[in-house]
Amino acid sequence: MKPELGVCYYPEHWPEAVWAKDAARMVETGLRWVRIGEFAWSRMESQPGNLQFDWLDRAIETLGAAGLKVVLGTPTATPPRWMLDKYPDMLAVDVQGQPRKFGSRRHYCFSHAGYIDECARITRIMGERYGRNPHIAAWQIDNEYGCHDTTLSYSGSSLSAFRQWLADQYGTIEALNEAWGGVFWSMEYNHFDQIDLPNLTVTDPNPAHVLAFRRFSSDQVVAFNKAQVDVLRPLTDAPLLHNYMGRVLEFDHFDVGADLDIATWDSYPIGFLSDRLEDDLDHKTRYLQQGDPDMQAFHHDLYRTVGHGRWWVMEQQPGPVNWAPYNPAPLPGMVRLWSLEAVAHGAEVVSYFRWRQAPFAQEQMHAGLLTSNNADAPAMAEARQTADNLTALGTVEQQQAQVAILFDYASDWAWTTQPQGAGFDYFRLVFSVYRALRRAGLSVDILSAKDIPQGYKLILAPGLATVEDDLEQRLTDACDLAILGPRSGAITREFQIPTTGRPGLAGLDCDVELVETLPPNIHRPVAGGGTAQHWIDRLTGNATDVLSFEDGTPTMKGAGGLWYLAGFPDAQLWDRIIAMAAEQTGLTLTPMPVGLRRRDTSEHTFLINYDANAVEWDGHKIAGCDVAILNRIPPEQS
Ligand code: GAL
Repeated sequence: MKPELGVCYYPEHWPEAVWAKDAARMVETGLRWVRIGEFAWSRMESQPGNLQFDWLDRAIETLGAAGLKVVLGTPTATPPRWMLDKYPDMLAVDVQGQPRKFGSRRHYCFSHAGYIDECARITRIMGERYGRNPHIAAWQIDNEYGCHDTTLSYSGSSLSAFRQWLADQYGTIEALNEAWGGVFWSMEYNHFDQIDLPNLTVTDPNPAHVLAFRRFSSDQVVAFNKAQVDVLRPLTDAPLLHNYMGRVLEFDHFDVGADLDIATWDSYPIGFLSDRLEDDLDHKTRYLQQGDPDMQAFHHDLYRTVGHGRWWVMEQQPGPVNWAPYNPAPLPGMVRLWSLEAVAHGAEVVSYFRWRQAPFAQEQMHAGLLTSNNADAPAMAEARQTADNLTALGTVEQQQAQVAILFDYASDWAWTTQPQGAGFDYFRLVFSVYRALRRAGLSVDILSAKDIPQGYKLILAPGLATVEDDLEQRLTDACDLAILGPRSGAITREFQIPTTGRPGLAGLDCDVELVETLPPNIHRPVAGGGTAQHWIDRLTGNATDVLSFEDGTPTMKGAGGLWYLAGFPDAQLWDRIIAMAAEQTGLTLTPMPVGLRRRDTSEHTFLINYDANAVEWDGHKIAGCDVAILNRIPPEQS
């Protein structure tokens, strides 16, 4: 596969006279793809039924004639104002019961049947008009599901759909009462129509009720997406995709991805560091203008699986954004570094957001490749340089990693429903081991529990709420060593303690007899170095204590190819655990200097330096904010 570059463009924002010049300049920059259309509904249909597609016909023709491949977006993330006159109840409702009003975007409830029909209608009109247009090389459905906290809605439409979903899931009200433990606090129902949404209760709602609502809400996103997929499939042969976001966990991306051909995501490294990563001040200062060295790679690896191996960056940060609390500029070299890093992880396309900075409305402070006055912004030169690098690089092929992490959206829903300890967060836990694996120089695959390929040396499944049916078997078959815990196998699908106990693993004589959670300043020391924090499963049983706390209680128990970890490790403890796992499985570790990351493809080793200063590793010197692309170094030789 030969990676290519692209850009997000809004022809409706600019006079038609500049489109052809823009297109020529894109091509001259080395861009091959252009995404358009995803917010343009009010220009496609200014009044109900008053369709105006001539401008879009000409925009597609102009871009296509210049040699660009077009990604056409369905405009359903921005219903026009008239839609609300037609369906005043289509807005999502927040947890406090307040409607989320018109005036920005994503103002719809995933469960509103009338709006879903409108989306299918506009998608059909577009599919019939452009489905066979030779310039349309991919379709983007909607834009960033779940962004701006839009997955969960406590609206009337959501309520009726939830009741129907419950009736389908449980069949009888008795089955639901049993599954939810309704006898507790007299919460039993007589029929499905009595069940409300789990907000505005006096104290905590029943966690089984909340988890059911979270599963339902995720299914609604899947169904919303599928309604457009079903319309487009017969009308086009071009691949269908969606642009996901970073650290949005409210819906199961693997489920949405199952209906699409390619996963794409929107990568804003500096915005994310400031706005959605917990870390200390030193770390945030060191990477202020580069972004966290693992956050992008984590999502690249995740979306590679969501997209069945096919994935892109649809929106790449090109300069300061407008939406984080602080918006520093990328250090010189970073736009190219982020682009090449994505390629190292298998991106087919890296597309910059956006072509030209908008002089109006919400995002006027958001940089583009061009300033609003048409001058090259600093990122332009780096985009050009990246295009040259990609031409020189040629093909990049991925290979299965030796190590994988299971990532499970429902575990996040479970643990946000019942955190038990304020510091216990599913994403942080998974991300902490991902970081540790990358500090050790490993390339990592991120897997869904639904599909675990064979052939790994090591698989980690931290915080996996429910170990269903044959999962333990599939996991141990797929690798030489599986590490579960903490808080793995802790509940059933219905949020009950399993009758087989916790973690209930057949292959490991190990039980959780008690759970403790700790405030963030408390670290429980482990004999030999490192600590566990936030969460401690107190373990009993005859399996060997592989690691112990200083007080003698087990930190990790193991037997053969299965280990269970009791606490949330700090960085030092993770490093020790990975070193022990490497010893057991024959995995070769190549510890990386701070800020340097390694990614192996079938032919290359990419060395990616997030640090502002040069580093040396294995005889190679890599400048600050730079990427070295070497012939692949076999792990055992480094
Ligand atoms: C993304 C979104 C774009 C734009 C961008 C700004 O989340 O998809 O439309 O708003 O952020 O950084």
